[in-house]
Amino acid sequence: MTSTPSQNSAIDHHREEFPILGFHHVEFWVGNAYQAAHYYRAIHGYRIVGYSGPETGVRDRASYALQQGDVRLLLTSTLEPNGEIAEHFKLHGPGVKDVAIHVPDAEAALDYTLSHGAEVVTKASITEDDRGKWKSASIKAYGDTVHSLIENPDIMWPPPGFRVRSDSIAVPIGLERIDHVVANVMLGEMDAWVDFYERVFGFVLLRHFDDEAISTEYSALMSKVVWDGTGVIRLPINEPAVGLHKSQIEEYLDFYRSPGVQHLAIATSDLVSTVEAARERGLGLMSVPDSYYDEVPTRVPDLDVDVATIKRLGILVDQDDGGYLLQIFTRMMQDRPTFFFEFIERRGAIGFGEGNFKALFEAIERDQAERGNL
Ligand code: FE2
Repeated sequence: MTSTPSQNSAIDHHREEFPILGFHHVEFWVGNAYQAAHYYRAIHGYRIVGYSGPETGVRDRASYALQQGDVRLLLTSTLEPNGEIAEHFKLHGPGVKDVAIHVPDAEAALDYTLSHGAEVVTKASITEDDRGKWKSASIKAYGDTVHSLIENPDIMWPPPGFRVRSDSIAVPIGLERIDHVVANVMLGEMDAWVDFYERVFGFVLLRHFDDEAISTEYSALMSKVVWDGTGVIRLPINEPAVGLHKSQIEEYLDFYRSPGVQHLAIATSDLVSTVEAARERGLGLMSVPDSYYDEVPTRVPDLDVDVATIKRLGILVDQDDGGYLLQIFTRMMQDRPTFFFEFIERRGAIGFGEGNFKALFEAIERDQAERGNL
């Protein structure tokens, strides 16, 4: 399902009142930010460009700012036994705390969201150092996740107050920007969260998939995608659907103990090179059954990449009206079966790999069965 002309004028109207520039960064709260930063540098090729902690006057936490292309990540862990980060980690394990949105005016953005029913987490404030300044505020999203609204016209990164580091060790693997961020929410709550993004951000429904489109013998989910109307923000929202066994969304909710971010999709313009590099470094990727590739030439007639190459690398491919896309999913990024990454190369397609859901879920279920959670 795509947006209609009347929805588009609704988007234009909202976007004038509440302009959005795109994803700004994503912050993870983890158990050991130092080691996580080195993992993302060694395996995913991110440069460690900034640090904040006791050495910079911050007493309770340590944060590492990472960058590759326009993808900006923050990894934060607590230095204390109690407090919000310790509590968050105890409950959820490592995970995404903040999906930060880049806006031209943080105060106006906060006012808009609050007047449309959002709940404030932090009021608008300025942070600055001799490199420049940011204005930011934040609001509550699903579970314990927040959305910071960040006014940062020069896209200064790392954030103000961080010690800038140069990183000559990292070797990028072609990751360019955040394509979409996926939420898992509780059974029966998907529509309420779609409504939240429509109301609070002025987003519209881009498409939806019911449990028949996205189901296997064992498990199913429902998914709706909201977007800003221009493509800079795309947020799929999943809820579990009833299957023979526990769905992967339920498994996530059981282990994360609340709604939260399931995966971050990062765009690359050459997925084959990205995956070659990632595999060489030992990045764990989801396995795909060989039989998946038998149907590829029929399913994706426009494909101009060698089927043998994508089969060797475990790359998935899907076609829609606009063209096709290549995508691959990593294994879980932590011991709990919660968060993972996707890498995606769009060649005209605007979808999310719906045609792959079945193949993907079958692969996920094999792993789930191995953990005894199917
Ligand atoms: Fe995705």
